Amino acid sequence: MGIPINVKVNGKEYNQEVEPRQLLVDFLRETLRLTGTHIGCDTSGCGACTILVDGKAVKSCTLLAVQVDGGEVTTIEGLSKNGDHPLQEGFKEEHGLQCGYCTPGMIMAATDLLANNPNPTEQEIRHALEGNICRCTGYHNIVKSIQYAANKMQGKEVAHG
Ligand code: FES
Ligand code: FES
Repeated sequence: MGIPINVKVNGKEYNQEVEPRQLLVDFLRETLRLTGTHIGCDTSGCGACTILVDGKAVKSCTLLAVQVDGGEVTTIEGLSKNGDHPLQEGFKEEHGLQCGYCTPGMIMAATDLLANNPNPTEQEIRHALEGNICRCTGYHNIVKSIQYAANKMQGKEVAHG
């Protein structure tokens, strides 16, 4: 039998019945069709499924949908209306992605970082992304993308690559 939950996702309220064992990532992808949140491992190892729950970055394969009852979720689809959040711009300008599979999770983890530390050092960025794995980029351009966004969000000049 389903359990009723009430959750706000990307600003929209949902009243939904969920299976008690349904993972949050499956609820987002399969029930709400928000497929920007990716599944890389399903066992909390890769970070591709990172989203914000009540403003905090979490791996959505480590939570059950029932656990966000009464909460607020933000996925990559809710970060900006037109894909023009400074982090999205930064990943584009600094070539922070190749296949793009890890990118939504990277961006959501970085969103949490910049909300708490608007001007992180390279080391702090690398530390914040420790739970997010990228098979393609070697991470260097990901760090540069986040530095780009940090500068832009602080009103500093950014170089367009
Ligand atoms: Fe959640 Fe890999 S799918 S951490
Ligand atoms: Fe391919 Fe990161 S861009 S896994």
